[in-house]
Amino acid sequence: DKGEYEHFMLKEIHEQPVTVQETFRGRVAMDESKIFLGGISDVMPKLLEAKRIVIVACGTSWHAGLVGEYLFEKYARIPVEVEYASEFRYRDPIIFDNDLIIAISQSGETADTLAAIRKVKDSRATILGICNVAGSSISRETHAGVYTHAGIEIGVASTKAFTSQITVLTMMALLLGHKKQILSTEEYQKLIHELTLVPDKIREVLAIEDQIEKIAATYKDASNALYMGRGALFPVALEGALKLKEISYIHAEGYPAAEMKHGPIALIDEKMPVFALALNDNNYEKMISNIQEVKARKGKVIAVVTKGDKAVKSMADHVIEIPEAHEAIAPMISIIPLQILAYHIALMRGCNVDQPRNLAKSVTVE
Ligand code: M6R
Repeated sequence: DKGEYEHFMLKEIHEQPVTVQETFRGRVAMDESKIFLGGISDVMPKLLEAKRIVIVACGTSWHAGLVGEYLFEKYARIPVEVEYASEFRYRDPIIFDNDLIIAISQSGETADTLAAIRKVKDSRATILGICNVAGSSISRETHAGVYTHAGIEIGVASTKAFTSQITVLTMMALLLGHKKQILSTEEYQKLIHELTLVPDKIREVLAIEDQIEKIAATYKDASNALYMGRGALFPVALEGALKLKEISYIHAEGYPAAEMKHGPIALIDEKMPVFALALNDNNYEKMISNIQEVKARKGKVIAVVTKGDKAVKSMADHVIEIPEAHEAIAPMISIIPLQILAYHIALMRGCNVDQPRNLAKSVTVE
């Protein structure tokens, strides 16, 4: 039931303050002192021994995996490889006994992701699932796992599953980081607190939907679009581009901002919209230079910035202001305006938002 919403996708975008909360409900202690993940507590000794994490996934779930790479590396100091399940399954991967394999899948039925975990089932590695659908094949064929609890997702374009997957990855990274004594109790609890702020920060972004809709109207006739970001916002750029291409059929690509000058910048002219993730973080100054490079080639810049920003605002054609967010949670907040943009652009182009052409909700065949 779509309730008051015109499409499932819009409903699911708006559900995110609640679905993220559902993901950490009962897992983050009420007093924010600790995280408890019942689904992986039995294998915790194995997780603490893990020398490497290999994430396998497809599409949006693969993008969540890329965000996870930054989280595990930063907060738990575990090396991570993020693999397209479709490639991993046909390679000859080297798996060590103390590897931790994590399959991320909303449906839990994606054929390539399922085949990827079957590929490693005879190894001694620990295999975890991060699935949304309870009892799905991937959740059954893994040693342990953490459900995202985002509720049924109907729109083919994944939205709330993505933010819930990142919520799970954040909880896992913080929990492991603390148990491994990489995060002090003080840092751990501060980061837990940041995580609990996500629902309200998402609400703040949802409240400016009208503004985002106006920007959508300006760019609805574009035939191409670029997205750029740095650090953990690079996967957000990839995800923003995927949302736009799959529902509006506008050709869109995401890049790490510094890669632009290695090729993609040649695409820029006065017709090219470039969506830039330029938050007030460690990469801010570098993003400003990347935005200047785009403006120097007459590209149109639509920047997602931190509320109160001045420097980017003075250069960009449009800015979307989001609330100040700690870098650990910034991907979950900054994807929201890109989901809303893609939705409205697709709608204005008369596309079938919930069921885009050529796509199925879960890809259970190769
Ligand atoms: O169910 P899964 O998470 O395994 O699905 C993976 C992809 O097929 C899925 O994320 C796809 O890319 C979506 N259409 C993206 O919006």
